[in-house]
Amino acid sequence: MKNWSIETLMAHFAENRDDYQGAVVPPVYQNSLFTFENWEAIDAAFDDRTNENIYSRGNNPTVTIAEQKIAALAGGERAKLFASGMAAITAAVLHCVNAGDHIIGIHNIYGPANNLMRHYLKKKMGIETTFVQGDQVEDFAQAIRPNTRLIYLESPSSAVFGLQDIAAIAQLAKKHQIKTIIDNTWATPVFQKPLQMGIDFEVHSCSKYIGGHSDVVAGVVIGKKADMEQLYVEEVELLGGKMAPFEGWLILRSLRTLPIRMKAHETNALQVAQFLEEHPKIAQVPYPGLPSFAQYALGQQQMTGYSGLMSFRLQTEDLDQIKAFFNGLALFKIGVSWGGHESLIYAPAISYLKELTPSQFTALGISLGDMRISVGLENAQDLINDLEQALQKVE
Ligand SMILES: Cc1ncc(COP(=O)(O)O)c(C=O)c1O
Repeated sequence: MKNWSIETLMAHFAENRDDYQGAVVPPVYQNSLFTFENWEAIDAAFDDRTNENIYSRGNNPTVTIAEQKIAALAGGERAKLFASGMAAITAAVLHCVNAGDHIIGIHNIYGPANNLMRHYLKKKMGIETTFVQGDQVEDFAQAIRPNTRLIYLESPSSAVFGLQDIAAIAQLAKKHQIKTIIDNTWATPVFQKPLQMGIDFEVHSCSKYIGGHSDVVAGVVIGKKADMEQLYVEEVELLGGKMAPFEGWLILRSLRTLPIRMKAHETNALQVAQFLEEHPKIAQVPYPGLPSFAQYALGQQQMTGYSGLMSFRLQTEDLDQIKAFFNGLALFKIGVSWGGHESLIYAPAISYLKELTPSQFTALGISLGDMRISVGLENAQDLINDLEQALQKVE
C-alpha cells in the first residue's frame, strides 16, 4: 500500500473482498446494529468502540471503507464521514472550542460556516470570532487573544478564491497551542494536503468534488488518530450527524474516479478561464489557476492543481444585460452547489442582495456582474461555445 499512487489507493485500498464473497464492489451494509456471539465479544467491542462495528450511528462497514480511502488520500490517520458538509464543519468546530473561547476566521468563508461562528456560537456559547482578510499571516498573529482556541481557514475560499499561507499559519497556531481547521473543499485532497502542512483538521463538503455526481449531500472531517477518536466519542456519538450506509456507498463509488475527475476538471477549467480572460466583454477572471491571479505564486507553492470552480466579472453592470447572458446559456445549468459532472452557473448577487444592503454588498467586493461557474466534465470547446453565444447577447 505504501507505494501505491492515489489512483490505485482509490481503486483498491481498504477493500477486503474476501469479507463479502469476492464481490468487486462492497455491499451496502443497511443495518442499524451488529450482533455478537456472547457477553465477552460485545464487552471487548466496547473496549475499542471508536473502531468496532456496534451501532451504525458510530461505525458502519460500508461507510468505513470510504473513510479509510479518504484518510489515505489526504495523508491523515482517520476520517469520519457526516450527513453533510455543515454537519462535519459543526462537529469539527465544536470539538475545538468551549464556551467563552475565541476563534479567528477569514472574511470570505462559506456563508453558513460564517453564520455558525458569527451568530450562532456567539448567541449560544459566548464564543466570539474575529474575521480577518487572511492573505497575510500577520492578520492572524494580530488577532490572537489569550482565549483564542481555533483558527478556521478556507483556502482557496469558495466565494472570492482568497488563499491563505497554510503552512505558515499552522506553524503560528502551534506556537500558541491553537487548533486549526481548513475547509479544503475547493482543492480536494487530490490537489492540496493541508494535514501534511501542519493543519489539525481538514473538512470537506463531499457534496462537491468528492461526491462529484450531484447525487449525494455529505461531509467529512479528517485528522490525527487521537484527535479523531476524541471527536468520535463526543461530536459523532453525541450530535449524531452520521452518514447513511447508502451515502457511504455512493461516496465510495465516487472516490474511485476522484483523481481522474479532478484532472479533467482542471484541464477544462483552464481552457474556459483562458477563453474568458481574453474576452472583451469580461472584466476579470479571478481563478487561482491563471498566472494573472494575484496569489498565483502561493497557489503554486501549496497546491498541485486547480479545480473547476471560478468566478468572472462581466464588463456590464446593467441588470437586463447581465440577465440576458445568464438566461442565455444552454449547457451551463442554473443552480447552487458545484463540483459535479455538470457545468453550473450562479450569480452571488442573487442570494447576497437578499441578506445585505447595497453598501454592505459593495463592501464585500462583489458586483452585480459577478458570475460563479462550476466547470464540469463536458467537452471544453462545447462549454466555451456556450459561453460565447450567451456573451453575444450582451450589447
Ligand atoms: C466551501 C464549502 N464548504 C462547506 C459547504 C457545506 O457543505 P454541505 O452543503 O454539504 O453541507 C459548502 C456547500 O456549498 C461549501 O461550498
